[in-house]
Amino acid sequence: GALPLAAAAQAAWPSKSITLVVPFSAGGPTDVVARVLGAAMTKTLGQPIVIENKTGAGGTIAAAYTARATPDGYTFLIHHNGMATAPALYRKLAYKPLNDFEYVTQVVDVPMTLVGRKDLPAKDFKELQAYLKAQGNKVNLAHAGLGAVSHLCGMLLRQATGVEMTTVPFQGTAPAMNALVAGQVDLLCDQTTSTTPFIKAGSIKLYGVTTPTRIKALPEAPTLDEQGLKGFQVVVWHGIYAPKGTPKEAIDRFGAAVRTALQDPAVATRLAELGAQPASEDKLSPEGLRQWLAQETQRYDPVIKAAAQFAD
Ligand code: MLT
Repeated sequence: GALPLAAAAQAAWPSKSITLVVPFSAGGPTDVVARVLGAAMTKTLGQPIVIENKTGAGGTIAAAYTARATPDGYTFLIHHNGMATAPALYRKLAYKPLNDFEYVTQVVDVPMTLVGRKDLPAKDFKELQAYLKAQGNKVNLAHAGLGAVSHLCGMLLRQATGVEMTTVPFQGTAPAMNALVAGQVDLLCDQTTSTTPFIKAGSIKLYGVTTPTRIKALPEAPTLDEQGLKGFQVVVWHGIYAPKGTPKEAIDRFGAAVRTALQDPAVATRLAELGAQPASEDKLSPEGLRQWLAQETQRYDPVIKAAAQFAD
């Protein structure tokens, strides 16, 4: 016979598919991480992880949506540094990053690269700087909206080079990358999870990585720091959030499934090829993510204020 209603309501989580909200376009760097993890987590949790790309306003639309979603354990959000930078970039934000969520776990750290259209005349970052100085606002710099890490990196690059440039926003760096490959924009600062295949295929030009030291996924690539942009550093980190009030069992088991996925050899190999490193052990927990988010929010606030003239 049918289960009594109360017993059905108490059926173990997860009893249906789980939505993982991605704040940027399909095929972009956040989406890539979400899909690689989601496929592995589907096996662990026994229910499909359905990726929902909810784009716009540099990731803040997806974050606002998740903050207001039903806290039933079936909606999660993957988001990056944008969670920490949005309060400094938006006068009115529809959610409080440090209050309106359950914090599940951090996921991976990802370097960024400064890349250009293939036929850009500058062959390295030194030549690029001269080109930028000469061309100024004629240079088009793509990004994925205020709160996107491509925007953050571009803003810091414009500040560091003192060149204004013209910024071109997209809904994610996937469409920005399409425009770059087609030669419709000049420059893009994007995560290695997106740029590595294009760099290896020779369809875009690589000017440098944004980490303090060179990276394994692109060992020949010089850092921007070593090419004269002393101290220039942007490292992307991804975390997983849920609406406040989501049952603890769902938080704990979703987080455990993320950790299991990161230890899966096929997942680890794929992420490493794309330059992504699992977050350190201390950050792979609700408290680890919440503390890191608080720390990053504090760290970015003065950085963004100092670069405010390059915010758009
Ligand atoms: C994306 O997934 O498109 C990116 O994370 C956007 C960005 O923040 O640059």
